[in-house]
Amino acid sequence: MTVSTRQIPLSSPYLDERDEELVLEVLRSGRLSLGPAIERFEQVFAEKVGAPYAAAVSSGTSGLHLLAAIAGLGKGDEVITSPYSFVASANCFIYEGATPVFADVDERTMNLDAAAVEAAITPRTKGIVAVDIFGYPCELDPLRELAQNHGLVLIQDACEALGAEYRGRTIGSHGVDAVFAFYPNKQMTTGEGGIVTTHDEGTWRSLVSLRNQGRADGGGWLDHARLGFNYRIDDIRAALGIGQVEKLDTILSLRQAAAARYGELLAGVDGLEVPLADDADHVRSWFVYVVTLAGGTDRERVIAELERLGVASSRYLPSIHLQAYMRERYGFREGLCPVSEDLSQRTLALPFFTAIEPQDQERVAEALAGALR
Ligand SMILES: Cc1ncc(COP(=O)(O)O)c(C=O)c1O
Repeated sequence: MTVSTRQIPLSSPYLDERDEELVLEVLRSGRLSLGPAIERFEQVFAEKVGAPYAAAVSSGTSGLHLLAAIAGLGKGDEVITSPYSFVASANCFIYEGATPVFADVDERTMNLDAAAVEAAITPRTKGIVAVDIFGYPCELDPLRELAQNHGLVLIQDACEALGAEYRGRTIGSHGVDAVFAFYPNKQMTTGEGGIVTTHDEGTWRSLVSLRNQGRADGGGWLDHARLGFNYRIDDIRAALGIGQVEKLDTILSLRQAAAARYGELLAGVDGLEVPLADDADHVRSWFVYVVTLAGGTDRERVIAELERLGVASSRYLPSIHLQAYMRERYGFREGLCPVSEDLSQRTLALPFFTAIEPQDQERVAEALAGALR
């Protein structure tokens, strides 16, 4: 028997002729930036997630940064966030001079534990950045209540959670400012890009000005009312975004089916846990497929064996507080967030994307089962 060693990638975007058509239309129009595709993209996206306002930006990171700036998070302020996330959810307010405070995550959901957040609140706390990690909705209601009771700003980093639902409603529709990201490994892509949804007109106006060098509403090209950034998306990317939103329902259901297939293939494999199932309050949008290996497993050996068999995998996610720059700047050390640190040692992302072939998933499952034996 010959064993296939064709590489199965970790992720791959889902693009079609409609996307090409929409991008070509923009190229042929000559309106490459600040044109009508951006507004159209914002409209269809806002409608899709149930938010009254959306502002498209250059990345998820820039969207988060703008919300941190608008909230006035700055020097002397503490912001509580998740250590088990991508660095941007903490960097966004560090850019403004605020100090990160990491509260530990819940072992099951891998999202911020509301009790740990409450315990971390001090008189200097000004905000919370909550993350829907791996597309699983965070505990929005308890966090919102904490924010209200303590006068804190709540920002939702939904970069991985487009289409997820919390308590029966799509993320983005709950009234909390949220950020989505469109790097090519995400559910939908614009190449690079992101979008901020808000239910507050004033916040939306600030977003639109700040992403565009602080230009004033109705002011001239060289009139700058405030210190802004160039965090604009362009019309080429926005056009791609329109095409992607048009087929988002298909994308999400294909990903759901692929995740269910992995669930079946891995059900009988010893030495790992599959991702947490949905419940009445939480419906995941499948961003990545991350398994948790049993304690004591040599993860590096598993990764090397998968690699040998042509299966990509990744150590999703390292704990942010233990990154080199965090240790140097703030003196964070092991033991600060034990749940996150333990997950960081044991979680492993498998190849997962919208058009992944069932046969390739079988190969992944067989390779993983063999590596764990
Ligand atoms: C949780 C989380 N936050 C923020 C980001 C930042 O998004 P971007 O890469 O578009 O800046 C990402 C995406 O990588 C993410 O996964």
